[in-house]
Amino acid sequence: MTVLVTGAAGFIGTHVLLKLLDNGVPVVAVDNFVNSTSASINRVRRISKTNFELLEGDVGNSSFLNGVFKGRHINAVIHLAGLKSVAESCESPLKYFENNVNGSIRLLAACDAADVRTFIFSSSATVYGAAETMPIPETCPPANPASPYGRSKLIVEGILRDLGQSNPKWKIAILRYFNPIGAHPSGLIGEFPAGIPNNLVPYVAQVASGQLQEVIVHGDDYPTPDGTGIRDYIHVSDLASGHISALAAIREGGGVHTWNLGTGRGYSVLEVLETFSMICGRQIPFRIGPRREGDVPVCFADPSKARRDLDWSPVNDLRDMLEDTWRWQKLNPNGYIE
Ligand code: WQD
Repeated sequence: MTVLVTGAAGFIGTHVLLKLLDNGVPVVAVDNFVNSTSASINRVRRISKTNFELLEGDVGNSSFLNGVFKGRHINAVIHLAGLKSVAESCESPLKYFENNVNGSIRLLAACDAADVRTFIFSSSATVYGAAETMPIPETCPPANPASPYGRSKLIVEGILRDLGQSNPKWKIAILRYFNPIGAHPSGLIGEFPAGIPNNLVPYVAQVASGQLQEVIVHGDDYPTPDGTGIRDYIHVSDLASGHISALAAIREGGGVHTWNLGTGRGYSVLEVLETFSMICGRQIPFRIGPRREGDVPVCFADPSKARRDLDWSPVNDLRDMLEDTWRWQKLNPNGYIE
């Protein structure tokens, strides 16, 4: 039961690899290293004390993909490879549709040709757009995603549902991530954004370590208790465990299923800053800036379906997530650059 993991060298990928290896599942790791480095894979080998195959290549390259399946007993795919910057997707939509949509289509075609029909897809809460219902259940109709990134996720979700309709042999899990943060407690793997981080927590970590000057809080005039944006932060290790549970569930029951991977608890920007200040022992400097284009005021999950169907629950609270972030930041101020 070898599992192919695409985007394996990334933030989510390394943590999913580790969970699979911890569960004794043989893996083949694939990455094109556009937004990652093989150093992260070496760290996974170091933590798990297990060797596994790493193949450098692009999920958009059909001949590469067909070669991956040949001669290997892959019978499940966890597809994490994809571009994930909301802002960049607005500047370069075609790049995002080519990579995230066409890449997924080519991967699915290679799976189809190899008769590999157990498939987990990394989707995102961004498909809900500015949801009215809070907390958000999976039944909440995906709204008009605010970005080409979100739309690319929604398009692939639709393709997967059509595949499931066309052939009951497909066993598919669509996992809608809320806000993954944190790092493996060893401090050896974590989030390594290229350039200036777009996302809050890696940005705060770099301010705490003195690499960046201050946090700009994107608006404090939202209809929330302290006026700042509320999000459902989930520890990346809990998110990774959700993939293991989803794999077991679809193997068992088949079909096409959508699950939110969130905690069901929202925290505001100011709450994150305050908690991080306590953890790192210094006040995080910040100033209030204008709202960021495309941001929604509040977004947090109703995680009850995953709890029920997958017997899965996140175990880390915000303090755990930020403590693990801070350990990773302190030990690796330049990420994987040795
Ligand atoms: C969180 C909160 C900001 C930065 C995005 C994608 C989502 C997923 C996770 C890929 C918001 C505020 C942020 C800063 C701030 N990505 N903020 N100052 O936008 O909820 O989700 O990343 O899968 O698909 O949409 O995450 O961390 O960027 O923002 O005040 O410097 O922090 O306004 O309220 P977001 P985020």
